[in-house]
Amino acid sequence: MKKVIVTGGTGYIGSHVIVDLVQKGYKPVILDNLSNSEKSVLDGIEKIIDQKVQFAEIDICNKEGVLDFFRTHNDCVGVIHFAALKSVGESVDHPLKYYQNNITGLVNILEGMKANAIHNLIFSSSCTVYGEPDALPVTELSPIKPATSPYGHTKQIGEEIIQSYINSNPDAKAISLRYFNPIGAHESAHIGELPKGVPSNLMPYITQTAIGLRECLSVFGDDYKTHDGTAVRDYIHVCDLADAHTMALEKIIKASNQEAHSIYNLGVGTGYSVMDVIHSFERSTSQKLNYKIASRRAGDVSAIYADNTKVTDELGWIARFSLDDMTASAWKWEKSLRNRK
Ligand code: UD1
Repeated sequence: MKKVIVTGGTGYIGSHVIVDLVQKGYKPVILDNLSNSEKSVLDGIEKIIDQKVQFAEIDICNKEGVLDFFRTHNDCVGVIHFAALKSVGESVDHPLKYYQNNITGLVNILEGMKANAIHNLIFSSSCTVYGEPDALPVTELSPIKPATSPYGHTKQIGEEIIQSYINSNPDAKAISLRYFNPIGAHESAHIGELPKGVPSNLMPYITQTAIGLRECLSVFGDDYKTHDGTAVRDYIHVCDLADAHTMALEKIIKASNQEAHSIYNLGVGTGYSVMDVIHSFERSTSQKLNYKIASRRAGDVSAIYADNTKVTDELGWIARFSLDDMTASAWKWEKSLRNRK
C-alpha cells in the first residue's frame, strides 16, 4: 500500500483528501498541530473509512519534529502539504505569523523530503496569486499580480520556493494546485468545514446564519460590475477538490507529468455571484436566509473564475457536483455539527 505524508490532514480540505486517499488504496500519515482543527476530526474520518488513521501532533515550524517524522516515514511515495494559515484578514494584521508559518513551514517540509529522498510534492496554492485579473477566465499563464495580502504573498513565494528547490534537485517533482473557492462537505456529514470563532468565509457564514448562530449575513458589496452587482467566485465542492489531489498524486508518482513543477487551476470554471450562492442555498435547503447588503470588504476582487482546461486535459479531472450539491451538503454538515453539541 502506498504511504503518503499529509500535513494539515485534520483541516477542512486535508480531512476530505484523507478520505479520498484511503478509498483509493493509499495509506496517509497525518502531521498536524491542530492549530485550526480538532482531534475529533479524526473520529469523523474514521467513521467514513472504517479504519484508524495514523496521526502525529507536530508543528511544521518545529524543524526537528518534522525531520524526525519524515525519517520515520521515509518509505512514503510523496507529500501533500496543506498545513498553512489561510485567513486573508488575519494575515494583514499579523504578517510575520503568516510568513513564519507558511514559508518556514514549507522550507522545513522540503528539508524533510530532501533528507529522506521523498521526491513528490503536492502543494496547496490559491487563485489569490492572480490578484484582480485583467481577463476572465484566468489560465495558469495569466499574470501573477502583486499580492493583496501577506497570505496571498506566501502562496506566491511558496510556488517560487518549490520551483527553486526543483531546479536544484533533478529527482524532485511538484504539482501546485491553485484552488478557487472550496465549499461544501462530505455527503456523510461526518467531516466538513470547522471555522474557529466567527467565520470570515461565505459558506460557513451562510449556514451559521440559517441555523441561528449569526443574526444576518452581510453581502459585501452590490455595486461590482457583475451580472447582479455582487462579487463573483468559482465555487468548487471540497470532494471534487479532494479527488484532484489523489489524481495529482497518481500522476506525479507515475512521473507522467511533463513538467517537473506543474501548476493547475482547480476550479469548476463557472463564476457564481454571492447572490447566486444565497439563492442556491435557499433552493437546495428550503431555508430562508436573513441577509442584508453591506459595503465592499477591503481586499476583495470583483470577479474571478478558472479556465480549467489544463487540469481536465492532463489529470482527467472533472467536477461532479453542482452549486446546489455544494450548498446542500454544507447545510447537512452544519445541522450534524449542531446536533452533536
Ligand atoms: C479568500 C481568498 C482565497 C483564500 C480564501 C481562504 C482572495 C481573492 N481569495 O477567498 O485565496 O483561499 O479566502 O479563506 O483573497 N462574502 C460576503 N459575506 C461574508 C463573507 C464573504 O459577502 O460574510 C463574499 C466575499 O466578499 C466574496 C465571496 O463572498 O465575494 C467569497 O468570500 P470568501 O468565502 O471569504 O472567499 P474569498 O475571499 O473569495
